[in-house]
Amino acid sequence: MPSFTATAPGKVILFGEHAVVYGRPAIAVPVVDVRARAIVRADPRGKPGCIQVQAPDIYLESNLEALSPDQPLARVIQSTLTTLGITHPSACTVRVTSTIPVAAGLGSGAAVSVAIVRAFSAFLGHPLPDEEVSQIAYEVEKLHHGTPSGIDNTVITYTRPVYFVRAIPGGNRTASLIETFPIRQPFTLVIGDTGVSSPTSIAVGDVRQAWQADPARYERLFDAIGTIAGKARLLMESGGSNSLGALMDENHSLLCEMGVSSPELDRLVETARSSGALGAKLSGSGRGGNMIALADEEKAEAISQALRSSGATRTIVTTIKSSMP
Ligand code: PMV
Repeated sequence: MPSFTATAPGKVILFGEHAVVYGRPAIAVPVVDVRARAIVRADPRGKPGCIQVQAPDIYLESNLEALSPDQPLARVIQSTLTTLGITHPSACTVRVTSTIPVAAGLGSGAAVSVAIVRAFSAFLGHPLPDEEVSQIAYEVEKLHHGTPSGIDNTVITYTRPVYFVRAIPGGNRTASLIETFPIRQPFTLVIGDTGVSSPTSIAVGDVRQAWQADPARYERLFDAIGTIAGKARLLMESGGSNSLGALMDENHSLLCEMGVSSPELDRLVETARSSGALGAKLSGSGRGGNMIALADEEKAEAISQALRSSGATRTIVTTIKSSMP
């Protein structure tokens, strides 16, 4: 019985979260140590057109027809069919599993979407190109958090470090800039999960309110963060990855000023620094979720243990390089 499998990695934002929503650059990298996996199998005994959806991690087992069109997995499958112009697919089962922590800023939603689009479009006989995979994942991201910048679906689809500048209404860019770039000197990150789940839409909405209340102050913060992201890219491209730590520290302070850190994030950031990290910051929308620390490879395990002793519910040590499997 033919079956088609695809996987997609997690991601972290290295620099530029929140400011990216307002047109400043951000850098995100794939985290290949955690993955979403989709398997699509033909169901020779199924009724033509019947698609069974299985997502054991969220205890979901249902016919596609019985799911709300706004259910993210249903939306991915439906959008893939619409993009391909297929109205009567053969009966099949779409099964998705993931080791990416949910609602933690590691891109689990986008990774699940990307894995499903790839496996399902291959099953349908028309594997979609990256651009369309990314576009469908972006549309589905909107269900998760209203006005996504597009960075998650991009870095996860291309599985490469991405420099991203979003086109914003009224801005001077008509399309978002998405550039993958080489990393001359690979580097090690320790990712620490606060265990506090924090919806992206709340933090993004709070920043919007604060920006509306005091645009000049927030524009200054966004500018400072954008400058850091630009410098960081130059360092990564020129072999100066070890100097990224100071920029991470600076970016974290600006995010604190913006009001998106939390006591749990600050504690883990402090722990990482005092146990030998070269720099540390929150990653993603903040308030909870994950922080990241830059580490010399030989110190990464000790930092990871210190983070767990300090309350991290999970840590991941990962190496960032130009091209990842
Ligand atoms: O928490 P995450 O990884 O979903 O990141 C959100 C990043 C923001 O810049 C705050 C929002 C966005 O859509 O880019």
